[in-house]
Amino acid sequence: MDTLHQKKTQDFWRKGSWLRWIVHLLGVWPLAALGWDAWQGNLSVNPIQDAEQRLGRAALYFLVASLAVTPLTTLTGWHFLPPRRRALGLYAFLYASLHFAVFVALDYGFDIPEIFRLTREKPFILLGLTAGLLLLPLAITSFDHLMRRMGKRWKRLHRLIYLIAPMVILHYAWAQKGDFFALRGDILRPLLWGIVLIVLFVLRLPVVRRKLSAMRQKVSSVKSV
Ligand code: HEM
Repeated sequence: MDTLHQKKTQDFWRKGSWLRWIVHLLGVWPLAALGWDAWQGNLSVNPIQDAEQRLGRAALYFLVASLAVTPLTTLTGWHFLPPRRRALGLYAFLYASLHFAVFVALDYGFDIPEIFRLTREKPFILLGLTAGLLLLPLAITSFDHLMRRMGKRWKRLHRLIYLIAPMVILHYAWAQKGDFFALRGDILRPLLWGIVLIVLFVLRLPVVRRKLSAMRQKVSSVKSV
């Protein structure tokens, strides 16, 4: 009994099970904070827009976090990071779905003709919609048995994320009221997220990854001498 307990404790710390709890805690945090603020009347004068924006940003944060897992693992060698990627991706999908639900149900009261008109008028909405739709097959196929069944096709399908993520950044930037080309107003935040995304994509390039893991191995062999 004691050894079983010891093994569980070891797994918790060494295999990074603690990270699972942190990811789930972070995963429910934006929704809990939104619920709390809505209950306390702490949302802005336009509470629906506030909720829509907060959910959209939460989706973006989890999307970027899921894309950061591979580069971080290459940099640190922490093999307990990759198993958490799926949860991060699913939280991105959850928040994107809630963001969409608030837009359709609360913002436009299921007025589908009006939503279609708006989609034609404001391309950033079409962009968000396309990104959201492309996220759907990734979320559905994120489970182990489908991953195994799809084999190589799974990897090919999940490369869609390299298209989705820039679309989301563009959607974010375009949704801002500032002047896109003068880099004024609220455009700086999406721009910064765009830079973060470019850095993550560069760190994922096979040649950069090889160099980084060689560097890490050198550092750890020097440390162990
Ligand atoms: C599924 C279809 C989608 C629709 C219909 C949609 C619609 C919208 C709308 C109308 C806004 C502007 C809100 C406002 O300022 O009044 C917005 C902003 C935003 N959306 Fe989406 N969106 C969609 C998908 C996504 C996805 C997939 C993501 C991220 C993964 C996302 C992230 C954002 C972000 C970060 C903002 C800006 C929030 C801010 O201003 O702080 N959206 N979206």
